[in-house]
Amino acid sequence: MRARILGTGSYLPEGYLTNDDLAQWLDTSDTWIRERTGIRERHITKTGTVEMAVKAAEAALANAGVTSEEIDLILVGTMTPDYFCPSVSCQVQAELGMEHAVCMDIGAACSGFLFALATAQAYLTSGMARTALVIGSETLSKVVDWSDRGTCVLFGDGAGAAVVGIDEKGVLAIDMGSKGSKGMALPCPGIPLQNPLQDASEEGSQKSYIQMDGQEIFKFAIRTVPETVRRSLQAAGVCVGDVSHFFFHQANRRILETVAKNLRIPLEKVPMNIERTGNTAAASIPLLLDEWNRKGSLVRGEKLVLSGFGAGLSWGSIVMEW
Ligand code: COA
Repeated sequence: MRARILGTGSYLPEGYLTNDDLAQWLDTSDTWIRERTGIRERHITKTGTVEMAVKAAEAALANAGVTSEEIDLILVGTMTPDYFCPSVSCQVQAELGMEHAVCMDIGAACSGFLFALATAQAYLTSGMARTALVIGSETLSKVVDWSDRGTCVLFGDGAGAAVVGIDEKGVLAIDMGSKGSKGMALPCPGIPLQNPLQDASEEGSQKSYIQMDGQEIFKFAIRTVPETVRRSLQAAGVCVGDVSHFFFHQANRRILETVAKNLRIPLEKVPMNIERTGNTAAASIPLLLDEWNRKGSLVRGEKLVLSGFGAGLSWGSIVMEW
């Protein structure tokens, strides 16, 4: 038996900022941002990660035809929880009354949804759970420095979700990896140390903002994504040409085009929404998947690849039958 996506949902906040909006206070331009990244606008939440996660989850449950009572596992990929505790997943549980669910958040930045889906597959196929709610939800707008044109133009807020059950068809193969030794190419510091054993002079004042070696991350992405996709396809016994859509993490249009070229995938098979969303980290793949699902662009039984990369550094690919 395999883990299979039964339904999807997503949520983008109403508020948004265009490139021209950003150019009002940053030394940047719509042309620079679009040419280097493919991004035109990004959505920004006024509420936070839990509320977006709940809205995406409600839509996914309705799409799957599954009730709250049936969910016995909630996994949320996020790097921007509203609280350190309770977890986003526990707060989603409380909002939606999924009393029988075990809840946990998965911290793998932009790979968060993939890692959560892989965890769901392990729980479901081992019999530890029967029906999982897997969510990616992010409020990146609170961890970017809005005066740093090198990072803030890239990110946006949003949430995507999938209800995952057990079926004969579904996940065929998973490839995942992490490289902590390169983690400082894309850090976002937490709360600085402050405790009674420290001298006041030692107390940190660093803000929790995303920092990035953009070129290093670009090179990492265009090298690692084709590798992980190839490994997962090989493990599944599926050829590139047999796959109908490749749902890649939406970080930069140029990265997606380079990866597609490397893998010899025609761009029609590479859905993109980065122009409207920016990089929404763990939310990006389920958001995109839900948009394509709701458009009726996915046919049950066809083969899909989901693949992402990000801070950690981390990466992963999942080959599945839809
Ligand atoms: N507007 C205008 N100019 C900008 C700018 C902006 N928003 N951001 C940076 N620049 C400037 C730089 O200051 C630099 O100026 P200089 O030559 O005078 O020093 C110049 O543009 C080139 O900067 P560089 O960093 O070399 O640009 P780039 O072509 O590498 O593009 C990124 C920058 C961030 C778009 C690109 O490196 C990238 O997308 N990397 C991957 C990031 C990513 O995906 N992160 C998330 C992973 S999950």
